[in-house]
Amino acid sequence: MTKVQKIRIHQFGGPEAPHADEVDQSQPDAGQVLVAVRAASINPVDFKIRSGKYPAVKEDRLPYTLGRDVSGVVAKCGAQASRFKAGDDVLGMVGICGGGYAEQVVLAQTAVAAKPSGIDHIHAAAIPLAGQTAWQGLFRHGGLKAGQSVLIHGGSGGVGHFAVQFAKAKGARVLTTVSTENVDFARSLGADVVIDYKKKRFEEEVSDLDMVFDLIDGDTRERSWKLLKKGAVLVSTLTDPSQEKAKELGVRAMRYTVEADGDELAEIAKLVVTGKVKPYVQQTFPLKAAAEALAAVEKGHSVGKVVLTVK
Ligand SMILES: NC(=O)c1ccc[n+]([C@@H]2O[C@H](COP(=O)([O-])OP(=O)(O)OC[C@H]3O[C@@H](n4cnc5c(N)ncnc54)[C@H](OP(=O)(O)O)[C@@H]3O)[C@@H](O)[C@H]2O)c1
Repeated sequence: MTKVQKIRIHQFGGPEAPHADEVDQSQPDAGQVLVAVRAASINPVDFKIRSGKYPAVKEDRLPYTLGRDVSGVVAKCGAQASRFKAGDDVLGMVGICGGGYAEQVVLAQTAVAAKPSGIDHIHAAAIPLAGQTAWQGLFRHGGLKAGQSVLIHGGSGGVGHFAVQFAKAKGARVLTTVSTENVDFARSLGADVVIDYKKKRFEEEVSDLDMVFDLIDGDTRERSWKLLKKGAVLVSTLTDPSQEKAKELGVRAMRYTVEADGDELAEIAKLVVTGKVKPYVQQTFPLKAAAEALAAVEKGHSVGKVVLTVK
């Protein structure tokens, strides 16, 4: 078996928990592909898992290799993984079993798509989890259509910067809340209305929305209900919104968890190829500095994505 480097946690804990280990690489099952990772991105779920605060990852999964997003080159295909061949450049979302912060990872072929031409592995690795979260929130759960209005809370972060661009590409009117430092960035993404949440109360600036896409939660969520028109929808990536409140206002409200979907990833890749969507990478770290990269994202002020480079 080949030994490869993986960033693992042996116990849940703080920034010191991840370790670089040399580990035997498992081989792909029938429907899987083995990918030689070139870049892997960081998501907030990674530090939630690291600290033991993510319900789907309990002690029975330790030692656990962190990481849900990769871009790289197919090294080997399982017996029935005929969608790809060795040598293909791909990107994909790793399942809840983790494994992205590594030199190699096995993924279901259904979670993988061809890397969009015109961007490198670093930018491609930024796409899968955050991109699909944005896509599924806006379109699968929110049903956002051209001509509708959507307020995206947190438009400068990993999910938010994709959401602003996807909603614009769809032909929606996009409003977003960001901090003072990120107003110009949000405008550059194409947002129609950018509200500096440090200087203004967003509820005094907007009303009559078709959708609120909430990536922040708490007080931001609570102050958003009254901005929805009847029949509108509030979609959250965080906690379950109150169904009583939704019923009272005549709106829909939900929380969802992102799912890996290679076909959807291929749709997103098309928008990247045409230049309608650009993944933004704020900072890169080498794989061995994964703990530091994770700590940077944990501060909660990322602009776009932070990505690990591998070899
Ligand atoms: N349910 C799921 O499947 C799923 C999937 C992906 C992500 N998530 C969750 O969704 C959330 C967002 O993820 P992410 O990857 O986009 O996080 P991220 O990259 O860390 O971005 C967070 C962004 O929020 C901004 N922000 C902080 N407070 C704000 C406020 N009051 N109003 C507006 N913006 C604010 C931050 O910028 P400033 O500090 O400069 O404002 C930062 O740009 C995370 O909690 C994550 O765990 C859930």
